[in-house]
Amino acid sequence: MINTCLFPVAGYGTRFLPATKAVPKEMLPVLDKPLVQYGVEEAVDAGFSQMGFVTGRGKRAIEDHFDRSPEVENQIEGTSKADLLAGVSKLIDTCSFSFTRQVEMGGLGDAILKGRPLVGNEPFAVVLPDDLCFCEEAGVLQQMVALHEHFGCSIVAIEEVPEDQIHNYGVISGEPIDAPGEDMAGRLFRVNGMVEKPQSDPPSNLAIIGRYILTPDIFGIIENTEPGANGELQITDALRTQAEQGSVVGYRFKGRRFDCGSVPGFVEATNYCFEQRFGKAYGPTTSVEGHTGA
Ligand code: UTP
Repeated sequence: MINTCLFPVAGYGTRFLPATKAVPKEMLPVLDKPLVQYGVEEAVDAGFSQMGFVTGRGKRAIEDHFDRSPEVENQIEGTSKADLLAGVSKLIDTCSFSFTRQVEMGGLGDAILKGRPLVGNEPFAVVLPDDLCFCEEAGVLQQMVALHEHFGCSIVAIEEVPEDQIHNYGVISGEPIDAPGEDMAGRLFRVNGMVEKPQSDPPSNLAIIGRYILTPDIFGIIENTEPGANGELQITDALRTQAEQGSVVGYRFKGRRFDCGSVPGFVEATNYCFEQRFGKAYGPTTSVEGHTGA
């Protein structure tokens, strides 16, 4: 049983400056909902109710987002706008939200280690909300929980990435393994190696994206891992140790991911969500609910 979903959100979001100077990257809205809320909703859909955040300086807006705002609620009560807060209010009512801080940016591995008191000694999920994922049926995390129940080991979500971008990712090598169910054919790999941000000769075109299910031995492994790329403690380096023990499965998930930590990915996600909601692409003459794009 996995109880906690961890959200490491202490990063500075430098690719989005100046927007992220005073506003956390995770609070940037795709349409009218902040990235972090999409992440929490995906976790809820996967069965989680304990949300743990590893935050840092300047990230307090995330905490406030998952708290009541009586003045705003009173203001819109009884109006058609009351529905706009229904989604986040439901999350506040049904989930617990815990926060701890990463005092210095020591890398994603360090951020996950800082989340240990929120997780305890049990398997847990990790969501990086700037990787925004949409799926036709079950969400990525829900798909991964089912795989963790089957394999009982760490699961990393992977995706094929073009050659000219692969150096930005953690990249796996692995052997295909039998899939539980025909629709999973070709999607599962027993990971046997990983490289963070390979500058040459990447081991494959399969990159790790921001969804993980980790077994709790990862904490001890991170503690014994030396800083890697950029002088930071990389989760990829710790996961390599688990992979060498045969304890990591890579999963080419069903669905679509947008890298909302980058401006092009963010714009693509926004266009995609607009089309999903309004049934048509946004353009200068698009008209929705009385508004025109002009
Ligand atoms: P990124 O590599 O996207 O870094 O981190 P970033 O700082 O958020 O963004 P850029 O590259 O400067 O634009 C991946 C995830 O890991 C978290 C980030 O918050 C993000 O969710 N992270 C990274 C931490 O929480 N702490 C760290 O020390 C590093």
